[in-house]
Amino acid sequence: MYYTLSIGKKYIKIVCILCVILVITLFIHTFADKHHNKPHVNAIDDHLDTFADQLSGDLVFSDANSDNITGFKTPIVPNVVHYVVLDNVYMDFIHFVSIKSVLRHQKPQKIIIHCNCHHMKGKYWSQLMSGSDGHLIHVRHIQKPVTIFGKKLSSVYHMADIVRIQVMITFGGIFIDNDVYVVKSLDPFLRFEFTIGWPPNESIGNQVLIGHKNARFLKLWYESYHKYRPTRWYYNAGQLPTSDILGPKPSLVHRVSHAFGVHNLVPMLYNDLYPFWDNNFFAIHLLARHKSYLVPNDMITTFNEHNIKTYNKTFGQMARLVLFGTTDIIADH
Ligand SMILES: *[C@@H]1O[C@H](CO)[C@@H](O)[C@H](O)[C@H]1NC(C)=O
Ligand SMILES: *[C@@H]1O[C@H](CO)[C@@H](O)[C@H](O)[C@H]1NC(C)=O
Ligand SMILES: *[C@@H]1O[C@H](CO)[C@@H](O)[C@H](O)[C@H]1NC(C)=O
Repeated sequence: MYYTLSIGKKYIKIVCILCVILVITLFIHTFADKHHNKPHVNAIDDHLDTFADQLSGDLVFSDANSDNITGFKTPIVPNVVHYVVLDNVYMDFIHFVSIKSVLRHQKPQKIIIHCNCHHMKGKYWSQLMSGSDGHLIHVRHIQKPVTIFGKKLSSVYHMADIVRIQVMITFGGIFIDNDVYVVKSLDPFLRFEFTIGWPPNESIGNQVLIGHKNARFLKLWYESYHKYRPTRWYYNAGQLPTSDILGPKPSLVHRVSHAFGVHNLVPMLYNDLYPFWDNNFFAIHLLARHKSYLVPNDMITTFNEHNIKTYNKTFGQMARLVLFGTTDIIADH
């Protein structure tokens, strides 16, 4: 009896020692992996993924707890702004203006640019990085999706449509297109499961998305890509989710009819000087890629930090406010 017991004790001791050695080895391996084998950018990605885990916990939404008219009593959506950039490392002037509008009017905790690149480049990017808010802006490396549920994606625009949904499902927060200008704080919408610009008799606009990562609409929208139609420009991004998901169940979202500025505001932006733009909107889609044919007679074809100083249209006021702190025309000496 005594004999067996002491063998048992010896056995336990050996097992314990082996366990300790195993734990130490595992620890060293993990540590070495994190700090030596991975390139720097992945360390940033790890940090952002941990950040995603921390964001706003694991709420489970239902008709019983989520109300699309009053929302929750306190914010449930993180104040983080997301952009998606595919196949372009040079930040252009319009994206620069968009980020400046976010910094000034939204004051987010972070801005994350999800890109199939590791770094952004160009003078506007350098200017952002050297500014006092540079530390808020991160580039997160992503792969460009090539297929969705086995079907080949037909354009980089459809890829970006899908990435924004994936980003929202991972992080939650505020997604905006690279040519969306934030007019004033979007904080009032951080209390809703999901908020979207949806003008009367039109499809939803996917240029501004605000919501919790567990929002029911996001999963349904992603799943609806089983019906992906490669040849239809705005079918999966707008028409199908509007007709098949929100048509039957509009209470899944807090609907903003005009104030997200996702309808066509090109005449106001580039044809007129409308001084009340900051009263009527929370955000405005600048439709920058479409300006050339929508306003063919405009004198300026490509905006920059010089010609914007004397551009006497609504967009001139908007850009000057976030670049120079004034809506006034600036004499160009
Ligand atoms: C929406 O469409 C309906 C029916 O086609 C029409 O009666 C209504 O006036 C439209 N509303 C707007 C704001 O265009
Ligand atoms: C809320 O959902 C209802 C349907 O239950 C819909 O009729 C209404 O337009 C929605 N309101 C807002 C502000 O989104
Ligand atoms: C800008 O346009 C407004 C209205 O069209 C006009 O009244 C104003 O004089 C213009 N300002 C300049 C500096 O050209």
